[in-house]
Amino acid sequence: MSKKDIELEPTPETTPRKGFSRRGFLGGTGAAAGVLGTGLLEQEAQAAPPAVMPPGEAEITLTVNGQARKVSVEPRTTLLDALRERMQITGSKRVCDRGTCGACSVIVNGKVMYGCSMLAVDAVGKKIETIEAFSMGKPHPVMAAFVEHDALQCGYCTPGMVVASKALLDKHPNPTSEQIIEGLGGNLCRCGTYVGIKKAVAAAAGRRA
Ligand code: FES
Ligand code: FES
Repeated sequence: MSKKDIELEPTPETTPRKGFSRRGFLGGTGAAAGVLGTGLLEQEAQAAPPAVMPPGEAEITLTVNGQARKVSVEPRTTLLDALRERMQITGSKRVCDRGTCGACSVIVNGKVMYGCSMLAVDAVGKKIETIEAFSMGKPHPVMAAFVEHDALQCGYCTPGMVVASKALLDKHPNPTSEQIIEGLGGNLCRCGTYVGIKKAVAAAAGRRA
């Protein structure tokens, strides 16, 4: 195992210092909206007026994996809760439930977000992609690469890792080693499958090229 392989596990030393990392951003802002990545949604959130909801449940429409679905939520309901508990879309996992591990990662308007740290009401009108979008019919190349490269053990982190990897490859079709480390810097694997994950992402990039 080379040092570079080991470096995929985020540590204070490997956490990117330029721009936003997911965990760095959350730490710096008190987890407002669970924004991950470059901070683009932070700018959108600042530009958009805050959503106003009455107390109690209200019906909203969420567009998940291309389907607009009505769902009743409270103002405090997180996107992860809306997906898992109200819509039975359970691919995104709840592990830490506090914006730390990335198991709940979903893509919202092209950005990876922690579903546990974003309110469902803040996802109204946005395009939400979950792991289910990448497993319909023929497996997505990223998912197939995870299997081929043995990039999972218990599997709890895997949906979030696949989602984050897909978003990474959308942004960087041929990522460098550093871009892979940065792109997955908000996802933790307690089983330590980082070497396989890194190989899988690189292999998926080759397939897509
Ligand atoms: S469950 Fe959301 S970051 Fe861990
Ligand atoms: S495979 Fe077990 S936490 Fe990642």
